[in-house]
Amino acid sequence: MMEPKTVLSGIQPTGKLHLGRYFGAIQNWVTLQSAYNCTYSIVNYHAMTMPYQIKNLVPATWDLTFDLIACGLKPENIFIQSLVPEHAELFWILNTMTGYGELKKMTQFKDKSIQVSEKGKDAFISCGLYTYPVLQAADILIYKAHFVPVGKDQEQHLELTRNIAQRFNHLVGKDYFHLPEPLFTEIPKVMSTADPSKKMSASLGDKHHIDLFASPERITKQIKSAVTDTGENQGDAMSPGIANLFRLLKASGHAEEYDGLMEDFDQGRLQYGHLKEVVAKALVNMTEPIRERKKEILENKKTYKEQIKTSSAEIRTKAQKTISEAKELVGLLNVKF
Ligand code: TRP
Repeated sequence: MMEPKTVLSGIQPTGKLHLGRYFGAIQNWVTLQSAYNCTYSIVNYHAMTMPYQIKNLVPATWDLTFDLIACGLKPENIFIQSLVPEHAELFWILNTMTGYGELKKMTQFKDKSIQVSEKGKDAFISCGLYTYPVLQAADILIYKAHFVPVGKDQEQHLELTRNIAQRFNHLVGKDYFHLPEPLFTEIPKVMSTADPSKKMSASLGDKHHIDLFASPERITKQIKSAVTDTGENQGDAMSPGIANLFRLLKASGHAEEYDGLMEDFDQGRLQYGHLKEVVAKALVNMTEPIRERKKEILENKKTYKEQIKTSSAEIRTKAQKTISEAKELVGLLNVKF
């Protein structure tokens, strides 16, 4: 039998896991586990590229790890980036093969440096923020991943990864790295319920995102206060707020109710209050097992931490093999001589 193809992705331990991130990425990561050999990284080295609180990084790293397990990622598929320091080593090698001009074109760098500059006199734009995509390339190439499930915002970084891999191969005169493909799946773009013109995001503030682990009461309250009509005349078209509620309903897996309510909308008999009730219930139901699992994980933290330590060590052996080969290929003296 052929080995299943490998999937790799990474997520930064910054901010809470909210419905936008869940429906936009994690739900898909869980599904991919049944078809591919999946590896998911909590990228804490990347989290240092924006201003952060040192004392918060370790708790945030564990928190996100537990959240992901609660969502259904298998502990053996998860590792913490800093427990595999070979990523940083390959990063250095790849840095020397990345064009300065190439990195200058990255839109995420431009966006994030603006975000940092808005901090006024404390603004500090690090070289780490600038070379961030090269570390991402190292994350992917070190496992020779075939597919990388990412959002469209990461397309440019994936293209860069392919260019770097090609340059490496050219320099060493060997097809050592194969070129990873992005895996874009049909994912709903969930908007803020308080302002449906903006993407749901933790950085916008509390009312702009629904925490995946929020209590049923809180979820219900947030859905009930969702903006529906902005007062502008939409004609027969659906307002962005209502469209967003429908998107949430579909994403939470209630296809039948979705179809029925859509029919009501088309017939002009949809009651917004009713739609909100159905959506709130759907989200509460969907998040219930995740909330329960999280509780169980928090009661057995030590066991789960041990599992992640083990999985990181196992994943590390693959990274060590690549780094050892890569060093040899680029003319670096290796430990074995
Ligand atoms: N840059 C990615 C993001 O912001 C996170 C990331 C880091 C990543 N390393 C990765 C994603 C490797 C995919 C593969 O979402």
